[in-house]
Amino acid sequence: MKLRIARSRDGGRITHYDLYKIELRKGMTILDALFQIQDKMDPSLSFRYSCRGAVCGSCSMLINKEPRLACRTQVSDVHGFEMKLKVFPTLTDTPPGWNPEEEILIEPLPNMPVEKDLVVDMTRFYRALETMKLWIDSEEGTEAHLQSPDDRKKIERYVNCILCAICYGSCPVNYEQVEYIGPAALAKAWRFAEDSRVKSPERYLDVANSLNGAPLCDLIMNCVKACPKGVAPGGAIRKIKNP
Ligand code: SF4
Ligand code: FES
Repeated sequence: MKLRIARSRDGGRITHYDLYKIELRKGMTILDALFQIQDKMDPSLSFRYSCRGAVCGSCSMLINKEPRLACRTQVSDVHGFEMKLKVFPTLTDTPPGWNPEEEILIEPLPNMPVEKDLVVDMTRFYRALETMKLWIDSEEGTEAHLQSPDDRKKIERYVNCILCAICYGSCPVNYEQVEYIGPAALAKAWRFAEDSRVKSPERYLDVANSLNGAPLCDLIMNCVKACPKGVAPGGAIRKIKNP
């Protein structure tokens, strides 16, 4: 199997693609393949990872034009998988010479500036969470804030978000409008608005409905199809738009 990988000689953009032939092993993931290339062929190849188990959200990248976690994607499964996303240019532009029958194409996650090779600058993605203050404000005292199993169930799917930014990278609105705060931040805002322990849920709905938030979403739902944790941000955004 061969991997054609986007590289960035100067940083800031893809400058060329390199082709590597890997030794395929049973159960091998795309992340394993990248390690093999880095260890045995090219130590300069840059990519992010940490947990290797679909928990940390670090290894998001474009695999055959679909945004996925490298540690959760087996090399042998890549060709049989299709997300059926609504496309935008980053998902349709292919490098010259790519042979999809024999090669897997690996590129950085779209909609964020490239730092080097498969590493993107996630500042914009994280800044949205910070400016929207997506956390529960602390209260005085030492009392525990309990939650019933039923109330917990209401927010369960949103709590599962691992901040991998795959929804952000798959969103055609994020492609066109850099100011859009993106699906993950909106899903998180809904998570806190629905949390039974929160005293002022309207504060989260107000920020979610701000100019660069839910009003910019066209409910295309790429985020629902691409999210590796079943968070379905599009459903939360629909509820934010029509509470
Ligand atoms: S909502 Fe899903 S795709 Fe988006 S950051 Fe969270 S886990 Fe990743
Ligand atoms: S390495 Fe942590 S999610 Fe892939």
